[in-house]
Amino acid sequence: MFDVSKIRADFPILSRQVNGKPLVYLDNGASAQKPQVVIDAITQGYAHEYANVHRGLHYLSNLATDKYEAVRGKVARFLNAPSEDEIVFTTGTTEGINLISYAWAAPRFQAGDEVVLSILEHHANIVPWHFLRERLGVVLKWVDCDANGDLDPQAVIDAIGPRTKLVAITQMSNVTGTVVDVASICHAARARGVATLVDGSQAAVHMPVDVAAMGCDFYAITGHKLYGPSGSGAMFIRAERMAEMRPFLGGGDMIREVTRDAVSYNDAPMKFEAGSPGIVQQIGMGVALDYMMGIGMQAIAAHEARLRDYTRDRLAGLNWLNVQGNSASKGAIFSFTLNGAAHAHDISTILDKRGIAVRAGTHCAMPLMEHLGVGATCRASFAMYNTTEEADKLVDALEFCHELFG
Ligand code: ALA
Repeated sequence: MFDVSKIRADFPILSRQVNGKPLVYLDNGASAQKPQVVIDAITQGYAHEYANVHRGLHYLSNLATDKYEAVRGKVARFLNAPSEDEIVFTTGTTEGINLISYAWAAPRFQAGDEVVLSILEHHANIVPWHFLRERLGVVLKWVDCDANGDLDPQAVIDAIGPRTKLVAITQMSNVTGTVVDVASICHAARARGVATLVDGSQAAVHMPVDVAAMGCDFYAITGHKLYGPSGSGAMFIRAERMAEMRPFLGGGDMIREVTRDAVSYNDAPMKFEAGSPGIVQQIGMGVALDYMMGIGMQAIAAHEARLRDYTRDRLAGLNWLNVQGNSASKGAIFSFTLNGAAHAHDISTILDKRGIAVRAGTHCAMPLMEHLGVGATCRASFAMYNTTEEADKLVDALEFCHELFG
């Protein structure tokens, strides 16, 4: 039974005040708050169990290594990946997608080869492909969403041509909340021999993910949005694709042997994890994933669907508010502007005075903002610990802004 008040009690920061008001944290799309179990795991890791991993033969190094390596299995379970050997640790989605760009795509792509992208992408799933455009002459093929924010999977499939090497697509827009039918895209691409990369930064927080059923080749998650520490993350990489990758970062841990004249590499996945990693961060992410799986991703998704429907109805009653994207298939993320002169930054500052945290700006998604014809928006993004009462506070504050700005 999903009990939001019990979940809220697990997150110490939610009981604090901001500007003299109870915190209403609606900036989860940027980063989520941390439950006490994750905070405890970080403290325990540094206070009692810290040493470098994979290197020492002493007690603490073995303990830290065991805890760190156990997270690979947790990520595999969380994503339903066939094997934990298909999980590479990263510092987050940005590093994960750059890893694929450098280690898998760059050695294989040639001038004129294509990467298909949707207009919904975050810069983390755009700029690494621009690098290949600049350096190799790779062509970026864009597929637009409609006015509702919906992305037709068939339009993405139709964009696949004889030179397409990769479809790189988000599962959930960080601006409109649109949920993309990535499974249809991945299966169609696979049938045409084209690889698929899914940016799961937003989606994996809010719904069950099954990379085996989805059929993708690469799937990115980032720990800080999953109620885990910043600087943690992971990439699912299908075994066949991993075998095609060249090492990216060079250094300790990713090698088997180094001589004056030669180097040989460790087995994957460690071949792609150079240097001392974010040990406690990844251990903390493992605890966060356990916490989420303990609640149940279906239960989290059901709670957030109620929040989405409630908030959508309440915002629809504000006829001076322009919400960007109103897909029937969306998460509880609402980006909006107010009619009139009020700038998104002014709105977010007024909300902040009432203890309400939202993000304002272009949300690392400039091509989408240009497509939607907006410069900057405010974004309220919900998480499993948010409530309908908090949605009401958001609406009250927006009504105040409307009165203020006219
Ligand atoms: N990607 C994060 C956001 O959407 C930072 O805010």
